[in-house]
Amino acid sequence: MLDFLGNLKRTHYCGALRATDADRDAVVMGWVHRRRDLGNLLFLDVRDRTGIVQVVFNKETQPEAHGKAEHVRSEYVVAIEGKVVKRGKANPEIATGEVELIAAKLHILNNAKTPPFQIEQDTNAAEETRLRYRYLDLRRPKPHANLALRHKIIIEIRRTMDEMGFIEVETPMLTRSTPEGARDYLVPSRVHHGQFYALPQSPQIFKQILMIGGLDRYFQIVKCFRDEDLRADRQPEFTQLDLEMSFPRQEDIFGVIEKVMVNACGVAGIKATAPFPHMLYKDCIRKYGSDKPDMRFGMELHEVTDCFPEEAKTKLQIEGNVFALAAPGGASYSRKQLDELTEKAKSLGARGAYFVKLAPEGTTTTVEKLIGAENVKKLAEACGAKPGDLVVAVSAKEQIKGTEAAALIAGQLRLQLGEALGVIDKTQWKFLWLTGFPLFEWSEADKTWVSAQHPFTGIVDEDLEKLETAPWEVRSKGYDLVLNGYELGSGSIRIHRQDVQERLFKALGLSEEQLRRRFGFFLDALTYGTPPHGGIALGIDRVVMLLAGETSIREVIAFAKTTKAQDLMAESPSEVDTVQLDQLGIAIKPEESK
Ligand code: AMO
Repeated sequence: MLDFLGNLKRTHYCGALRATDADRDAVVMGWVHRRRDLGNLLFLDVRDRTGIVQVVFNKETQPEAHGKAEHVRSEYVVAIEGKVVKRGKANPEIATGEVELIAAKLHILNNAKTPPFQIEQDTNAAEETRLRYRYLDLRRPKPHANLALRHKIIIEIRRTMDEMGFIEVETPMLTRSTPEGARDYLVPSRVHHGQFYALPQSPQIFKQILMIGGLDRYFQIVKCFRDEDLRADRQPEFTQLDLEMSFPRQEDIFGVIEKVMVNACGVAGIKATAPFPHMLYKDCIRKYGSDKPDMRFGMELHEVTDCFPEEAKTKLQIEGNVFALAAPGGASYSRKQLDELTEKAKSLGARGAYFVKLAPEGTTTTVEKLIGAENVKKLAEACGAKPGDLVVAVSAKEQIKGTEAAALIAGQLRLQLGEALGVIDKTQWKFLWLTGFPLFEWSEADKTWVSAQHPFTGIVDEDLEKLETAPWEVRSKGYDLVLNGYELGSGSIRIHRQDVQERLFKALGLSEEQLRRRFGFFLDALTYGTPPHGGIALGIDRVVMLLAGETSIREVIAFAKTTKAQDLMAESPSEVDTVQLDQLGIAIKPEESK
């Protein structure tokens, strides 16, 4: 028989009871975390979102409550009336460990099936099971703490933005396509047969229109939707801090974000210092082999092409540049480990990987025969290698995304080696602004130039004339914010002139007709006195993930989707009734016809 809650009022959260509460009457409510039956004494650990308290049922003094307690199991929902007493022997493992509650009355408010996994801080349940039974997973302290941190960070962001004079404005969810490089999620219209809304990939066009509308400083904590390949830091729906300012200099936008990030870090007890350093995109690629470098450790890349004489290059079929790095302590790597590194480099598209070991017993190398002892020395010196280090050089044939492939591959090895050799200082918070991006990148698949960011990104004034003649040389007014190897945010000073925006669309291969159909309203808006403007968007999920010390954004999203974009709990996406499809005038084609 279950009891009713009735008028019973909770007096304390479980995790709040302390020695100072001793001798007080208390009513706690929560879930049975664990039951231990010692015959005359029965213990229930009762849990709520604040923690756990031990409740004691004594058969002799409270036979009725004790008798009832014999029937409860894990995850039953209970309310207990009792008296707080100091424990004979404190339990230092839990915050309430100095006290326990001597039960006078037990109310069983609900029963529970045996959960598919134990509700513990560290669970070894598969992520799929956790996502399917998310309501049980959320009872664990860690997901709870992550959501609470997310809440605090978002409040702090809103407060900081308000303090700086930004106004939060909601933009539509049912809208039209906004190009951010992914596919759209489409929503069919019932009223307008054959027509679709698109869920926003970002509020980009709307926020620019808000600047035309004179809002001056806009922000929004906003959901965005992108149908793209997923991974640990990508979800099909995610949250941005999106902002836009009128008449800004790049530094003004950086200043706003630095304030937001320093304050958000403060909420998580992390001290970040502003201003954040800047780096040019091309320097970053050559130095770290990445456009989101992890700067918590060194092992920087060095271009060492001139350590490889022409003869060796021909023999090794090296065409591009060679990049190398020194891995501290890597001289102890075995032949097998070096082979694995070579395999990894090749799987990333390298021609080859070459090693120099500066071991105490003497320098050994895989390339001396090809490049000669003098060049081996030069190679090690170029990387600043010290005794005990392993020098890893990588060559590649092709260019990737117009940048040096060997640098990008060496950049991947740098991350792998840095992690394996334990040289990454996990206590550091290394922010970086990246600037000087190219405006376009070449799409091999489409055989055309595509926007490296999005097509509203401003163009460096001096490069405007090259838009049609030498697009590959045009630099953008875009920037990225990077933290500890993750891209946190991206933005730009925008194109605010209609003629330039139109030229850019045309440079991207849009015909007059496509241009009018897709962006006509926006091009129109630009003609009515558009102020110079710019902005940025930060990935809130990524911010919270990093500040919570997690490695997947799924850990900081209440109802996350799998990497196959499925919600295992709600079982979506799902089929819909034919009636609904009929109303929308939609028929599903067989899978093969896709
Ligand atoms: P961008 O597309 O770079 O820029 O997105 C900005 C930031 O949003 C986060 N992000 C994601 N987070 C989780 N899952 C995803 N699928 C995902 N995609 C992006 C990242 C990223 O840095 N409109 C522009 C901003 C601007 O120019 O102002 C935009 O959306 O942290």
